[in-house]
Amino acid sequence: GIPATASARGTGIPFGAAIQNEYFDDLGYRQLFTGECDLVMPMNELKFALVQPERGQFDFSRADRLLAFADANGQSARGTTFVWWSTNPPWLEAIEDPLDLERALVEHIERVADHCKGRLTSWDVVNEVVAHDPQEHRGPLRDTFWLRRLGPRHIPVAFQAAARADPTARLVLNDYDLEFRGPRFDQRRAIVLSIVRQLQKADIRIDAVGIQGHLYAHQEIDVEALARFGADLKALGVGLLATELDVIDFQVRGGPAEIDAAASRVVGDFLDGLMGGQRPETVITWGLTDRYNWVEDVMPRSDGAPCRPLPFDADLRPKDWYGMLRRRLSQA
Ligand code: G3I
Repeated sequence: GIPATASARGTGIPFGAAIQNEYFDDLGYRQLFTGECDLVMPMNELKFALVQPERGQFDFSRADRLLAFADANGQSARGTTFVWWSTNPPWLEAIEDPLDLERALVEHIERVADHCKGRLTSWDVVNEVVAHDPQEHRGPLRDTFWLRRLGPRHIPVAFQAAARADPTARLVLNDYDLEFRGPRFDQRRAIVLSIVRQLQKADIRIDAVGIQGHLYAHQEIDVEALARFGADLKALGVGLLATELDVIDFQVRGGPAEIDAAASRVVGDFLDGLMGGQRPETVITWGLTDRYNWVEDVMPRSDGAPCRPLPFDADLRPKDWYGMLRRRLSQA
């Protein structure tokens, strides 16, 4: 097998990880990131409030630092995100007039996409627009400030602006909970497909769907449904990528060995489904080492032990599932 080391870089489907400026002073981490990742994904640095904190005042310094790092290391990069329910600056959410809000959205996309042009292989144009639980919800789309003020047309407006501003980056609809078994997840997959068809019917470019891939160690993946989803997208000429893979482990009892074994099973199933329908464009984990992870803050373990969501542990040692992931990406 191919060892989980720098030698895996550049083989097969690109592997990437999300990174933040905050981690940068950690030299061991930086070396690991440089050795292992084909692709860099700024975790927060291209989100709306960070890039345009005040109307008309753009700050690209934090994003540029990461993109320059990627460039210096021969890594590609991708961006997130223009439309999201979170991380919007107060000035934006204060705009009441729909026409003015649409103008603000289009101007933001034009400025940011133009600034990054040629440096990003893809953009999450919209993030998390599908209703969390479509059965419980009035409509297929998530109830966000964008939906309330602009209606569903904020989605085509954003894709159209992105296509105009960057003709080469792949334009992605990104969402979570698209891999599990059950009616709620079937509905969420169906809604994504219907959004894709509507954009295509309106002749608006959408190139790929991003599956975030925040897995839960004890939540069953519907391998067949995920593969069918990928095949359905392929039939529409739309690609697939995993954008935020990690494994949330608060349900697993036991120590590191039990947690990592459960993670390996669920990541294996995820890859079976993801690769079963079409060849994914890239697989990206939401961080690289357990040393820095978002799960600890949001869904900590009840036994107080550290979470282990990422491919490398807090001592920068690879988990078994990282070796498996790299092998499968190399061979695809
Ligand atoms: O950097 C500041 C720090 O200076 C300040 O002292 C501190 C106080 O709150 O905040 C720090 O910024 C935080 C930032 O993460 C950096 O760690 C923000 O408050 C916090 O809101 C931000 O959270 C991010 C979150 O998205 C919201 O943008 C997480 O890092 C990031 O992992 C998370 O990512 C999301 C994806 O975009 C979408 N899918 C789910 C995923 C996990 O929630």
